[in-house]
Amino acid sequence: MTSLRIAPSLLSADFARLGEEVRAVIAAGADLIHFDVMDNHYVPNLTVGPMVCQAIRPHCQTADGRPVPIDVHLMVQPVDALIPMFAEAGASLITFHPEASLHVDRTLQLIRSLGMKAGLALNPATPLHLIDHVMDRLDLVLLMSVNPGFGGQAFIESSLPKIELLRKRIDASGRDIWLEVDGGVNARNIRRVVAAGADTVVAGSAVFTGGDYRHSIAALRDEAAG
Ligand code: DX5
Ligand code: ZN
Repeated sequence: MTSLRIAPSLLSADFARLGEEVRAVIAAGADLIHFDVMDNHYVPNLTVGPMVCQAIRPHCQTADGRPVPIDVHLMVQPVDALIPMFAEAGASLITFHPEASLHVDRTLQLIRSLGMKAGLALNPATPLHLIDHVMDRLDLVLLMSVNPGFGGQAFIESSLPKIELLRKRIDASGRDIWLEVDGGVNARNIRRVVAAGADTVVAGSAVFTGGDYRHSIAALRDEAAG
């Protein structure tokens, strides 16, 4: 496995200082910036859209100028109209929930046609077989380990065997598909999440609450390494 990617979720950042927060987590070792888009329709919460993505884009680079990808997690329905807007706004990856698109295969093609990586996000109760016929169009699968809509929720333990099953499916496919786990990941459970097969983890409250982002990200990496 490649080394673990850590994607801090801006949902737990200070929204009044988003640019600074992005720069701070990148300086602290973030590999991706996880950008949660909620519409008060697919999920019972409302966050930010392409304009805010565009506003943070200039901040998404390391001190030596290396770009840090924006990992857009769309919790919206319908999905397609937002995809060109996020491409324009500088998104690198777009993940959506299959229940929210009438034509999943078409939506995946649309994302890739605009030069971005494409992913499907699976809720805790969403079966893994929904990815079966689109494996060749996927760059990542985002497995939700909480129900989408809010940061700071408790990790759902039954996600662990599901991560293991998904890891087996991805390995069996022989494709380079990232397995990203999102929701309730912290220093107490990240070892089990990575051991089950995650190569990318989202961490919102575990990074942003506590103040010392470098320490929080290092603690996640240390615990993951065992
Ligand atoms: C939940 C979001 C997650 C969430 C993660 O709907 O998709 O990205 O913000 O936050 P924590 O790590 O606090 O669960
Ligand atoms: Zn998310």
